[in-house]
Amino acid sequence: MITKAKFQKEDVLIEALPYIQQFEHKTFVIKYGGAVMQDEELKAMVAQDVTLLRKIGINVVVVHGGGKEITSFSDKLNIKTKFINGQRYTDEETRDVVQMVLVGLINKDIVRRININGGRAVGVSGIDAELVKVRKYDNEDLGFVGEVTDVNSSFVKNLLKDGYLPVIAPIGVDENGTVYNVNADIAAGSIAGAIDALKLVYMTDIEGVKINGEFVSHLTQTEVENYIKRGIINGGMIPKVKSALDALESGVQKVHIIDGRIPHALLLEIFTNDGIGTEIVSK
Ligand SMILES: Nc1ncnc2c1ncn2[C@@H]1O[C@H](COP(=O)(O)OP(=O)(O)O)[C@@H](O)[C@H]1O
Ligand SMILES: [Mg+2]
Repeated sequence: MITKAKFQKEDVLIEALPYIQQFEHKTFVIKYGGAVMQDEELKAMVAQDVTLLRKIGINVVVVHGGGKEITSFSDKLNIKTKFINGQRYTDEETRDVVQMVLVGLINKDIVRRININGGRAVGVSGIDAELVKVRKYDNEDLGFVGEVTDVNSSFVKNLLKDGYLPVIAPIGVDENGTVYNVNADIAAGSIAGAIDALKLVYMTDIEGVKINGEFVSHLTQTEVENYIKRGIINGGMIPKVKSALDALESGVQKVHIIDGRIPHALLLEIFTNDGIGTEIVSK
């Protein structure tokens, strides 16, 4: 009889096999937020993780945020930061800072880190190939904040087909070519819906969705709507769950909200039986 230790590397790999088979040639959109954008070690790990996903045949698209970095650069330039209902008021000066920081710094930093691992990342913004078309957000005046009207899905799909890993900075252009700031969670949701992604994963700084202090691993559309109404889901979680519902409506199968503070959180979510984080499904 063969004897072996209780927990071996091969067990982990074998546990991953059905997922690898299931996800080959499928598309995942991954939104970077929180610690995976701040902490050096986590930044390196998530770059390895997305490269690994790409290498085993998953089409990976990264969409990133950058709120903290935008605020810190605005401070350096003595530009005041103003929030209205949790959304950044974006005057013309702030809009330029948003573009400089998201596209010039953050996007290229993520691309560089993925490419160290051989991940073939290409950084683009919503301006490039008019990837993200927007109109001015008109529920309230937030300045140059746009809501997504269209996504150039064939551009993203072509990059994927050619073996590239698109890394997308969430800004967009309107019909006249004016640049707008776009909420990264919403951009990720719209892109996932437009390119027929199977999964949309939000990486953030909390275990997942919490209801009355308790972490929940599974939520349906009806539950989400109910919790938003009752104010139990609020703040920065709202754009995530709302775009999750929109993405599900557009055909995305599952949305995950996972804790990016956990090392290799993405791999744990995707390749283990138990997974981590909250999954949101239609029914
Ligand atoms: N019901 C809830 N469950 C979990 N987090 C919630 C909930 N309601 C509000 N939040 C807040 O949403 C935050 C996540 O959004 P945000 O801070 O914008 O992160 P990110 O940078 O990833 O976009 C959580 O850290 C938490 O403070
Ligand atoms: Mg946020």
